[in-house]
Amino acid sequence: MKSVKSWLSKFRAKPATEAERFEQIKAEILADEAEPRTEGTTSRRKFLARLGVGATLTALTGQAFAYLRALKPNVLYEEPQRFKVGAADQFSEGGKFLEDKRLFVFKDRNTFYAVSATCTHLGCTVKMQKLNQKKRVKMRGREFDEQYEFHCPCHGSKYYGDGTNYAGPAPRPLDYFKLEVAPDDGQLIVDMDQIVDQNFRLTV
Ligand code: FES
Repeated sequence: MKSVKSWLSKFRAKPATEAERFEQIKAEILADEAEPRTEGTTSRRKFLARLGVGATLTALTGQAFAYLRALKPNVLYEEPQRFKVGAADQFSEGGKFLEDKRLFVFKDRNTFYAVSATCTHLGCTVKMQKLNQKKRVKMRGREFDEQYEFHCPCHGSKYYGDGTNYAGPAPRPLDYFKLEVAPDDGQLIVDMDQIVDQNFRLTV
């Protein structure tokens, strides 16, 4: 049952200032708190107060999200696929792994070629495996001794030294990318947007 104090408060004159209004609300809440509760009833003011707080938080969260979203431009930044990898004389014989590009650059005397380290099965990074003994393999009609292979640690695909897949689920050979010499400073440029034949060699 509502207290007489609470009932009388409805007939009070409207507060003239914000401070008075605040004091009135405080008094009403205290009176409401003092009321005896019956089981199963919920304080209407408390419910409305919680509803008000919830609505305010929802509105603030929405505004904050919109603000943060506006700070982020709708642009996807992709790594450049054509880049310099250094001067030819900086490479030693054999393969050099460029981890951040997932790429091998090979030097064979005065020729160069670039092989992708991305497994053609599901995209794991393959590892270059030096062989303890030279292995006689036949590829594209010719036989030769290879000294290294590429092995994928994820599902066991294996590739010969020229990138040809021969074991595991890999469906095709590793990609080869176009190499060229930069006209301005003579560095080697790899273009990962241009897949070339396995026989491609850049002679410098
Ligand atoms: S990702 Fe290389 S074998 Fe599956």
